[in-house]
Amino acid sequence: MSKFRKILLVTALLAGGVASAQSSKYVNVGRDATPREVAAWDIDVRPDFKGLPKGSGSVAKGQDVWEAKCAHCHGIFGESNEVFSPLVGGTTAEDIKTGKVANLSRTDYPGRTTLMKVPTVSTLWDYINRAMPWTSPKSLKPDEVYAVTAYLLSLANIVPENFTLSDANIADVQKRMPNRNGTTTKHAMWPGNEFGGVSKPDTSNTACMSNCVTEPKVSSFLPDFARNAHGNLAEQNRMVGQQRGVDTTKPEGAAPAAPVAPAAPKADNSANKAAIALLGKNGCTACHGVDKKIVGPGFNEIAKKHAGKADYLVGKIKAGGVGVWGPIPMPAQTINDDDAKVIAAWIAQGAAK
Ligand code: HEC
Ligand code: HEC
Repeated sequence: MSKFRKILLVTALLAGGVASAQSSKYVNVGRDATPREVAAWDIDVRPDFKGLPKGSGSVAKGQDVWEAKCAHCHGIFGESNEVFSPLVGGTTAEDIKTGKVANLSRTDYPGRTTLMKVPTVSTLWDYINRAMPWTSPKSLKPDEVYAVTAYLLSLANIVPENFTLSDANIADVQKRMPNRNGTTTKHAMWPGNEFGGVSKPDTSNTACMSNCVTEPKVSSFLPDFARNAHGNLAEQNRMVGQQRGVDTTKPEGAAPAAPVAPAAPKADNSANKAAIALLGKNGCTACHGVDKKIVGPGFNEIAKKHAGKADYLVGKIKAGGVGVWGPIPMPAQTINDDDAKVIAAWIAQGAAK
């Protein structure tokens, strides 16, 4: 590199990394991101509110946003556990004083809500801003994010009903977050030892090198007669996520009641495999299992309901819909016609693996 070019390059860097047509580091490979591109990604809001855009929104406005864009998944009062753990509930006026949610240390308290756990209001704002509504993230304007955040905070009595949340008063709201003092770094998971942590994470165990126990010993059992003491746990838990219950109406280890489909002849299944691969490619498997419900119905269930109706299915796959299976909507999908047809034909023929 000539001295002259070097000087030019240095000057360009000093000028503040102005986007050039090419990557300054690797010649002929890509180009630097433009400031606008960086700005589109760089949206995080930190606990000290660095990154928070200016704006404001009232609880009342937030209620409108909530009812139009959030309630069908999270419930009118943020209490629904149909799609995800409830957002609101389990916090008290005392928690707002202490900054520690007492119910979190109760083993008999059923479930954990977002507002029980989240220590920082910035996280709530940031999460809603970047990720919600689930089906069209980043579609809310800053004022709508302020408003809907204010609404959630008001449901938990962290702010009054006539409150307007803004960049100017959000730091005061932080002082009322119910679990603001409820987090610890003593587990040393993060910050870890690089921040001078005092202990090791939960791996600080001594490896057993001789006479090690190989089988766990079960020291007590729930007696059979008590198994169903609280009714069928499977029916009391939501269908998705981690909090599932076992079917307590049957003895432990009994096979689930689902009727076993007659074994399909072991024919060539490459067409099925190809269709299933398209499900992954088009992001369908985030919401549908091939043979189990996730957020939307399992493809096996859809196949039963709409056997032979490939045309209907193509339309539904592209346009989405709501109400056939329940209150959770399926958003319209960006998918090319060929993929949609292959998937629809596969479902119409039974959605086999
Ligand atoms: C189509 C259904 C759907 C809609 C509509 C929706 N959400 Fe969600 N929401 C979810 C799901 C699913 C999750 C969990 C996502 C995950 O963890 O990957 C979630 C998570 C959240 C969380 C974080 C919960 C936690 O503890 O981590 C907040 C806060 C939230 N949503 C707020 C909102 C707000 C505000 C709106 C409206 C602007 C909204 N959501 C609209 C489905 C939805
Ligand atoms: C964000 C979650 C989500 C994604 C992603 C998604 N679906 Fe769905 N899907 C649903 C829900 C929820 C329903 C139930 C809607 C209803 O009750 O009408 C559904 C219903 C369906 C149905 C049945 C329609 C009917 O009328 O019975 C088909 C077929 C389907 N989805 C196919 C697909 C395919 C193929 C993809 C990928 C291209 C996909 N879905 C992606 C959530 C999703």
